[in-house]
Amino acid sequence: MKGVPKCIRVDKREGEEVRNRLADSGLLDTKHKIARHGEHLDIPVLCDSFEGREAFDSEAEETEGHTTDYKEILDLPDWLNEELPRSYDIIGDVAIIKLSDALVPYRERIGEAMMEATPSLRAVMLDSGVKGEFRIRELKKIAGTGTSETVHKEFGVRMTVDPSLVYFNPRLATERARVALSVKDGEKIIDMFAGVAPFPLVISKLARPEVIYAVDLNPEAERFMRTNIENNHAGDIVPIIGDARSAVKGLPKADRIIMNLPQSSDDFLDSALEAAKVGAVIHMHRVLERAEAETFAEKLTERMRSAGHNIRITRTSELKTYSPSMSVYVFDIVKD
Ligand SMILES: C[S@@+](CC[C@H](N)C(=O)[O-])C[C@H]1O[C@@H](n2cnc3c(N)ncnc32)[C@H](O)[C@@H]1O
Repeated sequence: MKGVPKCIRVDKREGEEVRNRLADSGLLDTKHKIARHGEHLDIPVLCDSFEGREAFDSEAEETEGHTTDYKEILDLPDWLNEELPRSYDIIGDVAIIKLSDALVPYRERIGEAMMEATPSLRAVMLDSGVKGEFRIRELKKIAGTGTSETVHKEFGVRMTVDPSLVYFNPRLATERARVALSVKDGEKIIDMFAGVAPFPLVISKLARPEVIYAVDLNPEAERFMRTNIENNHAGDIVPIIGDARSAVKGLPKADRIIMNLPQSSDDFLDSALEAAKVGAVIHMHRVLERAEAETFAEKLTERMRSAGHNIRITRTSELKTYSPSMSVYVFDIVKD
């Protein structure tokens, strides 16, 4: 980029997510370094504004000849370069990338270039997609050493995760902090689809609930939950392995319920409402066609009313893009 580098300023807790979205949109300036100023990060950008944040002229330093963009290291034919993903997930010291069929024969070269661009990586895994009701990933190592088990850090929480055994999404960090910061002292909380318990762990770190029940159907989740509870001294989290619908029946009524099962969370909403106190808040995540999001909320309220539950949807927010026409939304629902 020629001329004065431009940056946007973001709260450091949102830094990783905003950086990923900039990279997804091709608007991250990888030729300049991100700078930290107290509680803020200045992220170099290739645009005049991003998500309502105005870019300003900055003194961002150049990245000293070491590119952090793996695409610049690779030497593929032009038509293939265009297919290279703009971004990928990093979980702990493991990168996870999806490749089109045309790029799969070049996977090892791509993996090596990613390791060179990001020296903190230990391994790169090719992701063939999320499968089954446990939403786990089919991963194959294309560069580096070791397995896909790693330790991911988020808001001072250290989470042992293996995305080939239990679902984990590093892009929900901001959403986990938002939910945690809305928790009041002494709340009883249920996470109906907890995975390795990232929501409960961040809540336990940032708030003071009485108890958080972390439910998941995947038997592999138990080992990770127990390790994470111990390593983070999170004695307020109670792991429960089983189906969320039956597990919640035996629990005390909750002040807050998290429903992070984006493909079908609404199918479990009646069970959540039965497990919730009047006035409780339910954070329900759902993948939807963007065109459908508004009518979905109306239809859901109507469906619940017919089943004898009065609800109010107090907040609808688009969290991330899922496909060209779909996004993941969160609905904050109050039980009246
Ligand atoms: C999208 S993942 C969410 C994981 C976690 N909340 C996170 O942020 O990483 C959904 C989880 O729900 C679990 N699951 C699927 N069906 C379930 C059910 N009927 N009861 C309990 N858990 C279920 C899956 O095993 C998976 O770990």
